[in-house]
Amino acid sequence: MFLYYVILIYYVILIILEVKRMLVSAKQMLEKARDEKYAVGQFNINNLEWTKAVLLTAQENNSPVILGVSEGAGKYMGGYNTIVGMVNGMIKDQNITVPVALHLDHGSYEHAKKVIAAGFSSVMFDGSHYGIDENIAKTTELVALAHEKGLSIEAEVGSIGGEEDGVVGTGEVADPAECKLIADLGVDMLAAGIGNIHGKYPENWAGLSFDVLKEISAQTGSMPLVLHGGTGISKEMIQEAISLGVSKINVNTECQLVFAAATRKYIEEGKDLSGKGFDPRKLLAPGFLAMKDTVKEKMELFGSINKA
Ligand code: 13P
Repeated sequence: MFLYYVILIYYVILIILEVKRMLVSAKQMLEKARDEKYAVGQFNINNLEWTKAVLLTAQENNSPVILGVSEGAGKYMGGYNTIVGMVNGMIKDQNITVPVALHLDHGSYEHAKKVIAAGFSSVMFDGSHYGIDENIAKTTELVALAHEKGLSIEAEVGSIGGEEDGVVGTGEVADPAECKLIADLGVDMLAAGIGNIHGKYPENWAGLSFDVLKEISAQTGSMPLVLHGGTGISKEMIQEAISLGVSKINVNTECQLVFAAATRKYIEEGKDLSGKGFDPRKLLAPGFLAMKDTVKEKMELFGSINKA
């Protein structure tokens, strides 16, 4: 009898570990973040090194994390099935037990459907460039599809400024009433333009519009809000945004900048020309380590450390 219980417990532990090593929807992690007043970082991935840097840093810091994949990065990495295979395999092989969501960033209607079929656990439908009626119709359809398959879904109102993968936005500030309309469609998180932009902020950037964020928060109730363009926003603004309901913050450019700077330094110091320094496993190592430091810094700033 005793042996029977030992074997039973062993298998229950194995099942729990197996479940922990699976992609999850972002819904629960963002609701917890909203309730406990911190934000989960979405770090965009571009290749295997980036994926490994983000996953290992999340695990080392016991932080939930969202891996963002833009359509351009999806194409670059060989397609959505390739990415799902790589991420799931890495979660198992590297024993990643913190919550991880694999999320399409700024997805079109067509690509949202593609990632749902490929096995992503979360999707953003960016219908911000449609008129509000068409944004509502398409979001409604995708909410049903995503939820049927257990994925979380993010929608956007008011395009985020700057340029990302060829999509250029002008830094609109969202209309809080439109935010409420979209939030009421059952999305799990809402990105609303509040003067944020992708890429580096210009010297004369006016900063985030907290009055608008307050109004959006008031209109959308407990909806976790998403702040895009996380690169280069000051600590004070990040903290204020979190206090007003931002529960997910997206970072991409800052990782690109530190990765490029570390790689440049390696080459400028001539390290690729010494011994086997040209081996990609050596050549890409400084960028990988620099990214890990940046991801950790962001997790500290967002308050997600030890929140897994
Ligand atoms: P940054 O590139 O400005 O960090 O923005 C990332 C982002 O918002 C991805 O959706």
